[in-house]
Amino acid sequence: MRRLCRLAELPDPGSARFELPDHPYGYSLCLVRRDGQVYGYLNSCPHTDSPMDWSPGQFLAGDGRHIQCALHGALFEIESGRCVAGPCRGDRLTSVTVYVDGGVVYLGEDFE
Ligand code: FES
Repeated sequence: MRRLCRLAELPDPGSARFELPDHPYGYSLCLVRRDGQVYGYLNSCPHTDSPMDWSPGQFLAGDGRHIQCALHGALFEIESGRCVAGPCRGDRLTSVTVYVDGGVVYLGEDFE
C-alpha cells in the first residue's frame, strides 16, 4: 500500500502529480479531487501519450470541472476520464485506483 499524500494537501477542486520512479514503468500519476472524491489517472494523454499538466501538478481547466491537457487542450471528465473535447474525443484516460483512509490518499494495490 503506497501512501501518496494527505487528503488535506489536495484542494477541492484541485490536483497533484506523483512520480513512481521505482515502478517498472516509471509512471507519472494525475490525482484530482472534486466534490470530496479523489480520482487517479495515468498522466498520459491518449492523444500522444504526453504528460498533461500545465505546470507540475496542475491538471484542471479554468472551470475546475474538467482535466485539460496542456499540449492541445483536450478536455476530460474528471469522474470518468472520458475525453469530451479535443483531438482524442471519445478516448479515455487510464484510470488508477486510489482510495482515502484516515485522511490519507493511497494508491490501490492493484496498481503496484
Ligand atoms: S497531447 Fe493531449 S490533447 Fe494532444
